[in-house]
Amino acid sequence: MQALTLELQDEHEFISKVNSYLKLYKDKIISERFNEIDSLKKLLTIIREFVSNCHHKKEELFIFPYILEKGGDEADLANEMITQHRDLEKMENQIEIYLEKNNFYDASKVLNDLVLLLDSHIEKENTVVFDYAEFIIDDEKKGELLDEMIKYEKDNNNYCNKNKYEKILEKI
Ligand SMILES: [Fe+2]
Ligand SMILES: [Fe+2]
Repeated sequence: MQALTLELQDEHEFISKVNSYLKLYKDKIISERFNEIDSLKKLLTIIREFVSNCHHKKEELFIFPYILEKGGDEADLANEMITQHRDLEKMENQIEIYLEKNNFYDASKVLNDLVLLLDSHIEKENTVVFDYAEFIIDDEKKGELLDEMIKYEKDNNNYCNKNKYEKILEKI
């Protein structure tokens, strides 16, 4: 049986690592360590560009539609994942706005919500949603979707270049 979600799971490991860094900044910004704000902004860039504009888009284009097609509880779950993607985007955006206004208290509060949601979101995809996708999508379709995902990554190299974001993380 061909696996469709291996790369996405691999990306989850990287995203979890970014999230563990974000957890550290949650307390640092409340103590207004201004020199740390630039690093936090870099982490938020990874969330906006790699996570929202590449990883989540791939899930929404190449995984979730096939779960939604089946209907039932599983479709509800896929819809829940899509709603969480939008929530994460809103939170990331809100944190940036608060940081621009030097409102570190509210930035920290939203950051707390974001790190918790991102952890539970990844956990649910790894343990339930992806397993279901592997089960319902046949091998031929998986082959097509894997090709389409590779093409999507090439066309969106600006956001999908994981190496670039790994290097940014290394320097933080
Ligand atoms: Fe997701
Ligand atoms: Fe994901």
